[in-house]
Amino acid sequence: EIEDKIDLLLSKMTLEEKIGQMNQYNGFWDLTGPEPKAGDAAKKYEHLRKGYVGSMLNVRGVKDVRAVQKIAVEESRLGIPLIIGFDVIHGYKTLSPIPLAESASWDLEAIKRSAQMAAEEASAAGINWTFAPMVDVSRDARWGRVMEGAGEDTFLGSKIAIARVKGFQGDDLANHSSIVACAKHFAAYGFAEAGRDYNTADVGTSTLYNVILPPFKAAKDAGVRTFMNSFNELNGVPATGDRFLQRDILKGNWGFDGFIVSDWGSITEMIAHGYAKDGSHAAALAVNAGSDMDMESYLYVEELAQLVKEGKVEEALIEDAARRILRVKYELGLFDDPYKYCNEARENEVIGSKKIHDASLDMAKKSIVLLKNENNVLPLKKTGQKIALIGALASDKTSPLGSWRIAADDSTAVSVLEGLKQYNGNTITYAKGADVSLGKSEFAIEVKINTTDKSGFNEAIQVAQSADVVIMVLGEHGFQSGEGRSRTELGLPGVQQELLEAVYKANKNIVLVLNNGRPLTITWADDHIPAIVEAWQLGTESGHAIAQVLYGDYNPSGKLPVTFPRNVGQLPLYYNYKSTGRPSLPGKDVVFWSHYQDQKNGPLYPFGHGLSYTTFKYENIVVNNTYNASGKVNVSVTLTNTGKVKGKEVVQLYIHDLYASVTRPVKELKGFELVALNPGDSKTITFTLTKDELGFFNNQGEFALEPGAFKVFVGGSSYTSLESGFEIQP
Ligand code: IFM
Repeated sequence: EIEDKIDLLLSKMTLEEKIGQMNQYNGFWDLTGPEPKAGDAAKKYEHLRKGYVGSMLNVRGVKDVRAVQKIAVEESRLGIPLIIGFDVIHGYKTLSPIPLAESASWDLEAIKRSAQMAAEEASAAGINWTFAPMVDVSRDARWGRVMEGAGEDTFLGSKIAIARVKGFQGDDLANHSSIVACAKHFAAYGFAEAGRDYNTADVGTSTLYNVILPPFKAAKDAGVRTFMNSFNELNGVPATGDRFLQRDILKGNWGFDGFIVSDWGSITEMIAHGYAKDGSHAAALAVNAGSDMDMESYLYVEELAQLVKEGKVEEALIEDAARRILRVKYELGLFDDPYKYCNEARENEVIGSKKIHDASLDMAKKSIVLLKNENNVLPLKKTGQKIALIGALASDKTSPLGSWRIAADDSTAVSVLEGLKQYNGNTITYAKGADVSLGKSEFAIEVKINTTDKSGFNEAIQVAQSADVVIMVLGEHGFQSGEGRSRTELGLPGVQQELLEAVYKANKNIVLVLNNGRPLTITWADDHIPAIVEAWQLGTESGHAIAQVLYGDYNPSGKLPVTFPRNVGQLPLYYNYKSTGRPSLPGKDVVFWSHYQDQKNGPLYPFGHGLSYTTFKYENIVVNNTYNASGKVNVSVTLTNTGKVKGKEVVQLYIHDLYASVTRPVKELKGFELVALNPGDSKTITFTLTKDELGFFNNQGEFALEPGAFKVFVGGSSYTSLESGFEIQP
């Protein structure tokens, strides 16, 4: 029925109006103020009235959304509603943890709910389309956008992609609390060479099919209605102009019938890439390759009509792109009621509601990873303790919001200091120690890290000297990771490492609480500091969540979705590497094997690592080797809570396909389950492996299951595991 409506509408549309649907403008200006008479904004008004705009991004709030929607619906010839896009990455005004942190929960229900809450809040502000989830796998912590994804693993990333798409879109897109999701950045953005943002990606077929594409396919299968292409080039072709990715794979093989939006200006950027001669050429390359909507290159609206007239672009492609965009608008119900997201009463009631704050706090607690806890320094005693709290980030109410927080106001997060003060049985003395402050450049917020000023060290040392326990909150400011924020050094920024060492000399009983949007190289801290808590950037409720974990009111169960390297020279470092022909020390020869002369091969903390205030025992791995009869292998294991408190454990299953026509990684995650157990209780967990988990893509991009021997491992991280095996017969 929707297709009939689209047919009818398309039959009334001029070529220019069809192209208009493919045009997306940014709306960062005062939409409810006086209308500008000249410049970019004036042009945008003119285009809105002519029906030459299909979508706006960065317009938010019911008043503003209503204002632009009114022009499109009431002043353009056909009154086609706009779709309103916004980067709702981890919340709108009430922020949940950054996506990397949420991924550390391995809790798919919680992640889905977090996306649902984000959709509920954003949709109440007039928004109906988010540019999320980012499903780029990345193995290089230098890349600033590691914070926005699900980490380094394809299997975990695919499950999280599904959870996020379902959370944003709900069961019915026409419900006013659902928003359209967007799987981005298609493809290989996370493989930017040397972790430098926007850089070239050059990857082989095996990595493309087995590592990069599956989370996108999972998002597609979960019903995601839009994709965003990518700034990077892949194997010599900018993703925005890549016909193979967009037309052959996504719209062809996968049968995707939603639409693809370009990244910001990425059509124009094909000129700088050295792929397009000029704007007209870039527009032709992008539309022919399958990019349906132009985000802020202004090239479709300026060039496409002429290109069609010159026969360089077929009108059928324009029609197809417009059809895809209209389809999603129909699915959202925008043609029935273009103002369905514009309800002030709902906006006031939903934004910042208790329900959304509670969900954000719940997600924040679940995202925390206990990296180290020697001598049970944690949880803290609740009374009679003198606590020294040190670090600029401990009192920071902005940094926990991360870098994607366009709609959230400064200083709206609960700081660690505020969170700890809710527990009044202990005394807390706070010292900043060293500044981590923000500056502003012409275009963006910059982090100006203090690399010299140690004037606060003495105060920090003094408060530490007389304390029973020292809590140091150190790491990256929220604006040190994210888009355009790649780094070559991954230690504690500025003088924070020196501060840590100086305080350690005064008092060794330190709990280090890390704030960061990517893995850090904290090798010294791991050697010296007894307790380390990974607290990422946890969003609005950050300080409450951290305090509850430090005091043991919440038992941490997070597991790392990324490998922590020992130093930057090891990057890219990931758990599912290939063996090489010389994987280990051959006899007495200390030189000719795959290693570094100056550093171990292995990580500081492996993928999947995370401790609890209780302990778990894994035993009885049983493999029922019936694949050939049933198409399944069942693997079971018994987990027991051997400690004194209730806890949750992420039971992880990995396989190793020992030999194949395309070599397989030494370990691959193929199952996980979050299990809650009371002290002394046991549970048997059974995983079922099918062709989907046991097969792989060959170098022709075909999925294959090959006979042969497999190892299987089950445990609480990618390192510690029980091992067994099975065989698939020819
Ligand atoms: O969604 C983002 C994208 O991830 C990076 N460039 C800008 C887009 C819209 O803000």
